[in-house]
Amino acid sequence: MDYSELKIPKHLAIIVDGNGRWAKERGLSRLKGHDAGFDNLKKIGEYALKRGVEVLSLYVFSTENFKREEKEVSHLMDLFLLMFKKDKNYFMRNNIKVLFSGRNEPLPKNVIKARDELVELTKNNTGGIINFCMNYGGRAEIIDAVKKINADNIDINNLDEKTFSKYLYNDLPDVDLMIRTSGELRLSNFLLWQNSYAEFYFPEVKFPDFSEKDFDEAILVYNKRDRRFGGHSKK
Ligand code: IPE
Ligand code: IPE
Ligand code: MG
Repeated sequence: MDYSELKIPKHLAIIVDGNGRWAKERGLSRLKGHDAGFDNLKKIGEYALKRGVEVLSLYVFSTENFKREEKEVSHLMDLFLLMFKKDKNYFMRNNIKVLFSGRNEPLPKNVIKARDELVELTKNNTGGIINFCMNYGGRAEIIDAVKKINADNIDINNLDEKTFSKYLYNDLPDVDLMIRTSGELRLSNFLLWQNSYAEFYFPEVKFPDFSEKDFDEAILVYNKRDRRFGGHSKK
């Protein structure tokens, strides 16, 4: 595909969904589905940034996902540790700066430590940003921003959207394209503020099978959209 002609979303957000169903279809445990999903995160992360995406937000664990069985939650925590510690060379080799969005509580201490160390290690990298949304909830993010604004004694009467954005977990550009794999048609509390004017794309493919070709297809679909932001069509 000739990418020079295509608009690439500056901020791409992906809800990496369908790991459990992917495994079930193959007679495997849900945990194996997460293993495959995590392997694919690295492949797609590298590819998206190579294609010119500047910020890639990946929804890898919601605040609500703590409702799952203890065995599944602890397996996911182990996968985070593997990725943030054992795979840290992946981020360095690809010059990726890592950010996180989400609450600390009730994440295990070792995950918080590995997370913070990875942020510190990669802070000067310039090859694009991966923002892991882990123990993330969009409503929690907005509530947490309000609390920080209050603590800073900001004059609420003069509060504008630009200032509010600075109090979110990270001050990132708005999402341009939001992809949710596995055919589910909902946001599930993902980047509520940042997705205001995002284009949405819902491929049927489950995340472990979401390929570079599927990524390219998403970019093509995005290029056919007419983004109006409430104004007139430019097409
Ligand atoms: C998404 O896959 C990954 C995480 C929540 C970490 P799911 O585990 O939600 O997979 P399905 O939706 O049950 O297939
Ligand atoms: C959203 O997926 C969270 C992540 C993919 C990390 P879920 O699978 O948890 O969402 P619901 O429960 O189907 O809405
Ligand atoms: Mg799911």
